[in-house]
Amino acid sequence: MSIYQPKEDSFLMSRILKEKVPKMLKENSNLKFLEIGAGSGIHLETAKNLGIKKENISSSDINPKAVEHCNLLGFNCIHSDLFEKIKGKFNLIIFNPPYLPEDSQEPKDSKLATTGGKKGNEIILKFLQQAKNYLEKKGKIFLITSSLSEDIDFEKLGYKAKEIGCEKLFFERLCILELTA
Ligand SMILES: C[S@@+](CC[C@H](N)C(=O)[O-])C[C@H]1O[C@@H](n2cnc3c(N)ncnc32)[C@H](O)[C@@H]1O
Repeated sequence: MSIYQPKEDSFLMSRILKEKVPKMLKENSNLKFLEIGAGSGIHLETAKNLGIKKENISSSDINPKAVEHCNLLGFNCIHSDLFEKIKGKFNLIIFNPPYLPEDSQEPKDSKLATTGGKKGNEIILKFLQQAKNYLEKKGKIFLITSSLSEDIDFEKLGYKAKEIGCEKLFFERLCILELTA
């Protein structure tokens, strides 16, 4: 299973982290950060460079190769399906999920990182059912969504959602939502 190499969605998340984290750190220098689906570790590096204490940076991935890679980079990364093995609560949880609807042309190797299910939003829905339980009071989630996957009723799932950064690509619109429970 190959490790997802950073693409437009990753770069959009990087930009938003650089915009938002400094202010969050001013308010709470002990900010606890969790990334689900860390992949290449690009956001773990950004989090560290922005000043989040290394011991406060946690992450997971379902792909054992990504877990090994992020550990080799010196980060705490565990093998877990979403929150299955995650303990504790966090001030900021980020997820650049597999969000594309199933495509029979997609090679098996990259599917794990890109395909969210038949409608595209199935993994996100599962994530949202669990994520609330791992948020500190006033904690935030930065979640990437795509116009290619089916819409989600965030309110129904118990979240307030606001767009904090979007990007129009050739065939889709990517947005980062800030969610609070
Ligand atoms: C689109 S990639 C994003 C990788 C990296 N965060 C980035 O922004 O470049 C999605 C990542 O989520 C991981 N992933 C997919 N399903 C997962 C699950 N159920 N639990 C944890 N990680 C998962 C994939 O292995 C992949 O590394």
